[in-house]
Amino acid sequence: MNYTTLHTELENGIFLLTINRPDKLNALNRTVIAELAHALDEVAVNPEIRGVILTGSGNKAFVAGADITEFLSLDGAGGSQLAARGQALVFDKIEQSSKPVLAAVNGFALGGGCELAMACHFRVAAAHAKFGQPEVNLGLIPGYGGTQRLTWLVGKGRALELMMTGQMVDAAEAHRIGLVNHVFSTEELLTRTKEILQVIISKAPLAVAEVIQLSNYATSGQAGGLSREISAFGKLFDTADAKEGAAAFLEKRKPQFTGH
Ligand code: COA
Repeated sequence: MNYTTLHTELENGIFLLTINRPDKLNALNRTVIAELAHALDEVAVNPEIRGVILTGSGNKAFVAGADITEFLSLDGAGGSQLAARGQALVFDKIEQSSKPVLAAVNGFALGGGCELAMACHFRVAAAHAKFGQPEVNLGLIPGYGGTQRLTWLVGKGRALELMMTGQMVDAAEAHRIGLVNHVFSTEELLTRTKEILQVIISKAPLAVAEVIQLSNYATSGQAGGLSREISAFGKLFDTADAKEGAAAFLEKRKPQFTGH
């Protein structure tokens, strides 16, 4: 598929998905959202894709937010529709992907950009990256899941400070508060993120998919997560990969997982 706002590349099972509007700091307009939705569908159905890295084009920005030029014409209903469409087509789809999705944050991750990074399973940042939810500067609030995911990730006090002041934090502070897992130099960011993802995709895919789902359930506010864990744990014993994992351990060899 040829995209106008995305660049995609598949290598060794890793799908590198780059948002490609560098002159607009990769801001999320309707086309980007629609193309991301399409690319995520491709991720779900293409068996050659085993994991995804989401990043931004250029060195300056991961994504500097939703495209503000689209805001002026919106009324209340239009605003709700924009948020609902984006959440359903992209943000929730990333979070619920059974294949691992990592954000390689290569610069500004502001507003919808910070929210996009937070929808990923975890985040790795370049040292010059900056994070923030500046919507209050526009008389708005995060609409792509930020109020919820930021609170889960960094706790209520820190999330509220970020969302109420609109101030940015640098990568070191984002790391300190748990918003990102690792900080690397700009030059190393992609290689190191690929190394981390290679480790994950060498594991049993069904097991990885289950931990994603159960972790999402833990933050869904619903009761019964532990009993879901019990049934998923049991279900995995019926997979070929669980047999292979135990056999390989006992035979002192590397497991060959097939995703079955
Ligand atoms: N929506 C639309 N366009 C955006 C954008 C956004 N969220 N963020 C940046 N751009 C555009 C700028 O308008 C500018 O376009 P132009 O060259 O046609 O004028 C271009 O990207 C470069 O940005 P610029 O502001 O000139 O870069 P800078 O280095 O001076 O500042 C930022 C960088 C990130 C601090 C600044 O662009 C910014 O504050 N962006 C908005 C962040 C935001 O509020 N996001 C939340 C939206 S809900």
